[in-house]
Amino acid sequence: LGELGQRARDVLAANDLGTMVTAAPNLYPHMWSWDAAFVAAGLSTMSVARALQELDYLLAAQWNSGMIPHIVFSDVPGYFPDVERWGTRGASPEGVQSSGICQPPVHATLLRRIVERATAAGGEDGRLAEEFARRTLPRWIDWHAWLRNTRGGDGSGLLTIYHGWESGMDNSPRFDGPYSRVRPGEMEPFVRTDTLKVTDHSQRPSDEEYSRYLWLVQQMADVGFDDARLPKVMAFQVKDVFMSAIFAAANEDLAVLAEQFGHSEEAPQLRQWSQEFRQGVDATVDQGTGLARDRDVLTGEWIGLPTIAGFAPLISTGSQPLLDRQLGIFEGPDWTGDPRLAFPLPASTSTTYEGLKPRQYWRGPVWPVMNWFLAHCLRRRGDEERYRQLREASLAQLMEGHFGEYYEPFTGEPLGSMDQSWTAAVALEWLA
Ligand code: DGY
Repeated sequence: LGELGQRARDVLAANDLGTMVTAAPNLYPHMWSWDAAFVAAGLSTMSVARALQELDYLLAAQWNSGMIPHIVFSDVPGYFPDVERWGTRGASPEGVQSSGICQPPVHATLLRRIVERATAAGGEDGRLAEEFARRTLPRWIDWHAWLRNTRGGDGSGLLTIYHGWESGMDNSPRFDGPYSRVRPGEMEPFVRTDTLKVTDHSQRPSDEEYSRYLWLVQQMADVGFDDARLPKVMAFQVKDVFMSAIFAAANEDLAVLAEQFGHSEEAPQLRQWSQEFRQGVDATVDQGTGLARDRDVLTGEWIGLPTIAGFAPLISTGSQPLLDRQLGIFEGPDWTGDPRLAFPLPASTSTTYEGLKPRQYWRGPVWPVMNWFLAHCLRRRGDEERYRQLREASLAQLMEGHFGEYYEPFTGEPLGSMDQSWTAAVALEWLA
């Protein structure tokens, strides 16, 4: 385990450009919003100062609206779509090079983790963490207010996404229905760079998927990324239940930080949002399957596929009977109780799902970052036992030492990008 920790620290150091830790060395040479939050937590096990610098760098790219963009570009060339293709210049603040969409708001949850560990240790680290929290809380609150008001303003307790990339689970079968109705129009030609780097193309989204992804980028750029116009023009609009659960948890964590660090007047609002989104998530649960569902805003259809997003209430802490039922499913034969699994960890779709593609991105592989996040949320409500079980299985999975972006569920083979920063970061969290 000592060696695993050292390797993980080496990965983060090697991916560190000084200004940012890139999400991965080749495939993702920039900062991704939710990756950065996990990376900061991992960095904080080595240096609290460096971890906070990472979050500061992300915050420096926050748009005037409050949105935190999903990519902050470095100067490293070779990633597509780059800032030019995004067409965000003019919409983003002066000097910021970013994409024009968001990603799941895990930041407050990870920030609370960093701050609690640093303040418990005391000394200079504790002082730095407290200063950071006091100074940046208004910015994180702006981010949450933007999400609540522009993406969840209908009071449904569910956030709308306008691109699968916003979910972070790009090609999950959750989005197949909504994407099937996206018909790309006239578009500048493009050459993908991801498939030059991951040469086994079966591990990445397909070209057809990519043309839809790019079409949605163009639709946003055409209206200047104007929040008010997106609902009128976008061909993809989904109530994302997993992102909404993350938001419920993050509001609770932000409220705790606000109370502790000089912004207690904001805490009731944050708690109210937490409650609103917890209820919104619970209300999506299919009584038949016991899983939470997304909803296609444009057709009104529920999306009830057996993906890991179905366990959203484990993140947002749903009602106790619901949690008990979900944990039963989670540990049952379609999920972590499937004896064929290399490790008892949840795959991105159930292992008995007919559409399972065990090597393809969000269509089946196991994602280490998800396992840590789920375990962390379970532990927050006192479930030390499940945290311990997931930790043991995760460390056993990661011992092979490549820090894959994702893993084949039945063989444990690392897939996608190797030396993925957030995988190294969660290894450090497991070991902390
Ligand atoms: C990618 O490049 O695959 C990312 O997931 C998009 O944000």
